[in-house]
Parts: sequence; structure tokens; C-alpha cells
Amino acid sequence: MEKQEQQKVSRLVFVLIPFQGHINPMLQLATILYAKGFSITIIHPQFNFPNSSNHPEFTFIPISDNLPKREVSAGDLFGIVSALNKNCEGPLTECIKEMLKAEDPHDRISCIVYDSTMCFSQSVADHLKLPGICVRTSPAATMLAFAVFPRLHEQGYISFLESMSLDRVSDLPSLMLKELAASMKKITTDGMLELGAAVADSVKKCSALIVNTVDFLEQEAITKVQELFSASAFTIGPFHKLLPTISSSLLKEDTNCISWLNKQAPKSVIYVSFGSIASIDEKELLETAWGLANCEQPFLWVVRPGLVCGSNCLELLPINFQDSVGERGCIVEWAPQKEVLANDAVGGFWSHCGWNSTLESICEGVPMLCKPFFGDQNINMRYVCDVWNVGLELEDFEGGTIKKAIKRLMVDTEGKEMRKKAIHLKEKVELSLKEGDSCYNSLNDLVKKILSF
Ligand code: UDX
Repeated sequence: MEKQEQQKVSRLVFVLIPFQGHINPMLQLATILYAKGFSITIIHPQFNFPNSSNHPEFTFIPISDNLPKREVSAGDLFGIVSALNKNCEGPLTECIKEMLKAEDPHDRISCIVYDSTMCFSQSVADHLKLPGICVRTSPAATMLAFAVFPRLHEQGYISFLESMSLDRVSDLPSLMLKELAASMKKITTDGMLELGAAVADSVKKCSALIVNTVDFLEQEAITKVQELFSASAFTIGPFHKLLPTISSSLLKEDTNCISWLNKQAPKSVIYVSFGSIASIDEKELLETAWGLANCEQPFLWVVRPGLVCGSNCLELLPINFQDSVGERGCIVEWAPQKEVLANDAVGGFWSHCGWNSTLESICEGVPMLCKPFFGDQNINMRYVCDVWNVGLELEDFEGGTIKKAIKRLMVDTEGKEMRKKAIHLKEKVELSLKEGDSCYNSLNDLVKKILSF
């Protein structure tokens, strides 16, 4: 995208939540809006901070997060998110107050653009009389849960979810009810309910909502979100397709796998990655290894340090594993994923269905083998398998099941049909980004909205 030559008059203050799957889309959005002429400040907690040298055009400011060591070392996501929401409000307020004091009249703060999970940022915006823009980095469908679950809880629905007719939850698209029920059963503490209600509240109060999605991918959910939250929602497309590839990886990307991919036959490789957070146990790691060893397809497998809790994982693989698969298998600790998915050798993606991975896969026309772990990943799998029909579900982590599922996806007729649909979906996404189409128009409307503040 061409950077517009215009005087910088508006500064956008981004507030990040420090997880890879959120840092990526937020920095992509910041880059898109920078190219539209806004100047950018990135405020981030000290934990997991992004590499500022990848973005010399932005100003980065760390704020204190006081994260409890116990939650961090246990990888307790809910504990970390709750602590960030409790501990960062004061430091964020002070930080922006200082920025306002030192403000250059030609470079004024226009608004605070925050990750929806850092929902306290809306209170900070209200307090400082600045507009707040909430960014949902997961699909719009996940916001429906926030909209309805405090009400469901009040009405006592949660405890009856399994026995009652789910038809009564008429606010939600029918497809999502099973996943919603499953995720709601995991909302077991008052703290979780409070956080969900706080997210819903911030979305109701924000001046605009940006969702990393495309209208046609989840039209029903987007319409519902607009109704339930009365929010002006901007669906500007998969953020990563609106700009040249940038890396915001917290781990070092191993680019050797690209030369390995370049030697493989077209559409022959199954790429395997479970994102930055999901973890498996040692037995599941070994079953995955033997499933891949026996599947007869070339494979590229991301074995991230910590994929098995507390281990660097590679040491857990059998000593003869690499020998037994030889050149057919390539294992890396972290891959340049967007480049991998765009490589012609990749014919399938076994994924945990994080929303970024899902969008990146459909944008390259790569069909998916889905094994979700938690949260939105279950909803994302439903989209992939039942709505867009570009993937299939892996039932369990058992070597034989893995081998069969990979064959279905990569070799069998049903997999070939999915690949055709995936390519069609990729083309539809590309069309939506073109001048005059939904994402293009939505981005222009967003820029106008920000300029109106
Ligand atoms: C988290 C949640 O787990 C997910 O459910 C939610 O939708 C987003 O936040 P994560 O599990 O890390 O994200 O998955 P995902 O959303 O797929 O994001 C991972 C990102 O890391 C992607 O942008 C992917 O391209 C990148 N990645 C992953 C790499 O660059 N290299 C890798 O080897 C693996």
C-alpha cells in the first residue's frame, strides 16, 4: 500500500495485549493506518514486548504490568489477562496524560485503539475524554458470547445449558450454540464472568469497533454484533493481506524451511503448527511424530519450545525420529508462517485453528486439518469445516487417526474438493479487497471516522 504524502495531524495510540496471536494483527493494523497518514504510538506491557526495531516508524512505550510470576510461569492465560486488566489501567492513564501534556499541536492524539481483551483502555479513554476504538482480533462470532453470556448467567441458563433447548438462545447463529455451550461451561469463576461483562461493556461504549474479518465470511455474526452492541463495526479484511509481509514474531523464524519447501512437489506438504500458546503432553507429541512419520506425505512441523509444558520438546522426540523420516520431514522451532502457507509445495495445514492461522490459511487457499484446543478455536473450526467446507476435524491425537486424516486431506477426493473450495474462498477474499468492494470501502469509512474525531 502506498504511504500517502500528507501532513501527520492525528496520532493513534495503540494498546497491545502481549500475546503473539494478538501482537501480530495489532501491529498489522497499525501499519495499515500509518500508511493512511496517521502517526502511531504503541503502548505495551513489559511482558512479551514486541521488537521495536522491526517498526522504526512507530514510537514504542512500555508500561509497568506487575504480572504475578506464578501466573506467568504457569502459563495461566486467564490469570495474566485479569492481572493486566487490573494492573495496567493506572500506568496507561499516566502514560497518555504525559503524552497529552507534551503534545505537539500538529501531531495530536486522535484516539486510543485497543485490543478488546485490554478492555480497561476504554475507561482510560473515557476518563481522558478521548475516543476509544476497540479491535477484535478474533472472529465477530466470538463477540456474541460476550454480548449474551451475562444475561444468560442472570437468567440461570448456564447451569441448564445441557438439558434445555438451545433454541431459546435465539440471539445466536444456530451453528455456534454447541461451541458456545462448551465454552460457557468453562466460565466457572466470578472473575471470568466479570471480565466477559467488562469486554461487552467496553464494546458498547467504544466509538468504533474494528474486526479482523471479511463480511462474507461471517455475515450473520457481524450483523448480530452490530445489533447487540449498537456498534459501528468496520470489517476491513484480513489485516495481513492489506500490507506487505512484516514480521512481529517473538521467536526467531527459521527460514531454512523455505529452501526445504522449494524442493518439494506442488501441494504435497502438510504443514503442522499449533500457534504460540496451545500445549500438548508428551504422549500427544509422540503420537503426532508417528502419525507424521507414517503418513507418507512430506511434512513441515513447528515444534515450539514449550509446546510440551516445561520442555524444549525436540529432546522428547525419539533419537531415531529424524533418521526414520529422512528428508521427508522438516522440523523447526518457529516458521515464517505466512511465507510457508504461500509456498506452492504446501497442500494442507494441520492447525489448532487460531484465528490468525485460519485467516492466513484461507487467504492462501490451503485446506485445513483442524484440532482446536480452547476458546475461539472451536468456533473457528466450525467455520472451516461446516460453513466454508475447506477442512476436516481431527478426532484425536492418535497416530493411526492422524495418518488417516492426513490422507483424507492430502490425497483423497474429499480433500481435493476441499482444496478447490479453499482456492475459491481465497479468490473471494482477494475480490473483497479490491477497490469498491467490502473491505476496501470499510477501510476508507474507518479512516473517515477517525478523521471525524
Ligand atoms: C491466540 C489464540 O490461541 C487464538 O485462539 C486466537 O484466535 C488468537 O490468539 P495463537 O494460538 O498464537 O493465538 O494462534 P494464531 O491466532 O494462529 O496466531 C499465531 C500467529 O503466529 C500467526 O500469525 C502465525 O502466522 C504466527 N506463527 C505461528 C508464526 O509466524 N510461526 C509459527 O511457526 C507459528
